[in-house]
Amino acid sequence: MKIAISGKGGTGKTTVSACLSQVYLKKGKKVILIDADPDSNLKTTLNIKQEITPLIELKEIIAERTGTKPDERAIFFKMNPEVDDIPEKFFYKNGNLLLGIMGTVRGGGLGCMCPENAFLKAVLRNLILKRDEIVILDMEAGIEHLGRGTTEGIDWLIIISEPTEKSIETTKRIEKLANDIKIKNIGVVGNKIESQEEKNFLIEKLSSMRILGFIPYFEEFKKSELEGKTPWQAVPEILNYVEDIVRKMEEKNG
Ligand SMILES: Nc1ncnc2c1ncn2[C@@H]1O[C@H](COP(=O)(O)OP(=O)(O)O)[C@@H](O)[C@H]1O
Ligand SMILES: [Mg+2]
Repeated sequence: MKIAISGKGGTGKTTVSACLSQVYLKKGKKVILIDADPDSNLKTTLNIKQEITPLIELKEIIAERTGTKPDERAIFFKMNPEVDDIPEKFFYKNGNLLLGIMGTVRGGGLGCMCPENAFLKAVLRNLILKRDEIVILDMEAGIEHLGRGTTEGIDWLIIISEPTEKSIETTKRIEKLANDIKIKNIGVVGNKIESQEEKNFLIEKLSSMRILGFIPYFEEFKKSELEGKTPWQAVPEILNYVEDIVRKMEEKNG
């Protein structure tokens, strides 16, 4: 199963990504979790203290694999660098979990034609098309990471939505992009739900989309972040909600 998570900033992408990984780990699965949001905080959410080098900072490796020199403003470089060994060598590992951090691409963002970008995209393509672990991508409010030749490997795109107009606008924008690049299954998760009214609001506004589930607003998260707790250490029941989401995805995929 290969899952990409998107949605407006602050809606809960990282929280849900982290919880999804925990649900699969509890089932005994091997999981590769990728922090692909430049505004990244997955490591903090998982309460990992160890240093993890973002892939974008592997200058020597990127140069070697793309056939360039570090810091060179290369025009010619390999678009399909060899990256099979990157997860095992440079990801954080803990039991059945591998965690990779992409880091921020300089200049023109992910659209830029540069060796770093070719390298990061190759790593993602490799994870999505060649690995048989569960792969979970915590992305930004867009799906630019999913280049050509990668999208067909994605089983589900989950868009996290809060019950606000702005979040819904972003959700619809992402849905359109995802349809354009022909992502197979797109689902919405309503997060931070405080009332039946808010739930109905999302159901009504997103009536044309497949809703995979709702997660309540948990006041505890505010304090627990300061205490360095993971979401499920703060509120164990959040995993029940995420397990339901996994069941829904698997029903459709199965
Ligand atoms: N269900 C929830 N209830 C309460 N707070 C939440 C919930 N989900 C996420 N949050 C909080 O919202 C903030 C943003 O969440 P995060 O997962 O980092 O969002 P994103 O990755 O989309 O930017 C965090 O402080 C997080 O603890
Ligand atoms: Mg995030």
